[in-house]
Amino acid sequence: MIDWQSIHGESFSGARVLVTGGAGFIGSHLIETLVALGADVVAFDDLSGGDWANLDGFGDGVEQITASITDAEAIGKATAGCRFVFHQAALGSVPRSLKEPELYYDVNVIGTVNVLQAARAAGVGRVMFAGSSSAYGNPPGDGSTPKVETMPPLPLSPYAATKLAGEHAMRAWANSYGVDTAVLRYFNIFGPRQNPHSAYAAVIAAFAKALHVGRPGVIFGDGEQSRDFTFVANAVHANLLAARHDGPLLGEVFNVAVGGRVSVNELYQRMAARYGHADLAAVHQPSRGGDVLHSQADMSKTKRTLGYEPLVDFDTGLAATCDWYKQNLARQE
Ligand SMILES: NC(=O)c1ccc[n+]([C@@H]2O[C@H](COP(=O)([O-])OP(=O)(O)OC[C@H]3O[C@@H](n4cnc5c(N)ncnc54)[C@H](O)[C@@H]3O)[C@@H](O)[C@H]2O)c1
Repeated sequence: MIDWQSIHGESFSGARVLVTGGAGFIGSHLIETLVALGADVVAFDDLSGGDWANLDGFGDGVEQITASITDAEAIGKATAGCRFVFHQAALGSVPRSLKEPELYYDVNVIGTVNVLQAARAAGVGRVMFAGSSSAYGNPPGDGSTPKVETMPPLPLSPYAATKLAGEHAMRAWANSYGVDTAVLRYFNIFGPRQNPHSAYAAVIAAFAKALHVGRPGVIFGDGEQSRDFTFVANAVHANLLAARHDGPLLGEVFNVAVGGRVSVNELYQRMAARYGHADLAAVHQPSRGGDVLHSQADMSKTKRTLGYEPLVDFDTGLAATCDWYKQNLARQE
């Protein structure tokens, strides 16, 4: 779908890179692209949420390490000799974090410190961190104003607080120890290989799974909450641009999104139509604690500093994603 070579050229050719969370959704897309660009990839994952099957068909060039980022020795060994680290490993669900906050701090915060210490010891050129738009919370007002990186973060859930702690560690390690870092604040990333089977599945994956068998999707709250749904190739592109950036980034935060806003009701209607169930109404359940109302990114800084432009718009990404779920969920039946 995307000619990565024409965009990123030889920038990663022969470079040894580590992708934590490499068996997961976004990590596997980063790896697919890095392999296509000729990088020598180390994939690190404890398989708590990912699956090495996500890397099937990428060739033999990926070294797979099954271990946890909470194991400082294992992550230290994996990082040796790497020029870049793309740190994607984390526990990712807001509702689950409300139930298990200590576990979230252990993996998302201590695990991230272990990654930074490993990067420091290995003399890594730059660590790219998977931040989250949940760091913004619900700023004052009706929440519909695009989120700018200069806004004070207001995390609402333990998950958001752990991702923000990770961001702060990125900035601190860059300034204290000279490990350069960049924070990519992802806004609702979606695409092929996002897990639809978890009890905490992201909304597009969950709708796909339900609609595939003709069941209605579940919407929490009235569905008027909106998101800047972002196709995964855009997140990959932002990571690669951050890695290639000339000069230190010192833990700077960059929004990664399209810059649009789609309500969950609208998303459901579009997906239901794609599945031939335009008349199948969604089921509404009470809204969930920790969820934000509206989430839309101001993309000015990412465009200005990293030269980012979204590669894939929402509609094109949604069509590709629905097609993928149709094929792959059918295969699993
Ligand atoms: N998908 C989104 O919309 C979104 C939005 C904001 C931020 N993020 C962040 O992006 C990153 C990737 O998310 P994703 O959507 O690909 O989710 P994912 O669950 O598919 O990927 C996360 C991967 O991390 C692995 N992992 C979890 N704990 C680990 C540990 N202790 N050690 C090693 N590996 C571990 C999991 O097994 C999984 O493969 C996460 O850091 C997440 O917080 C995602």
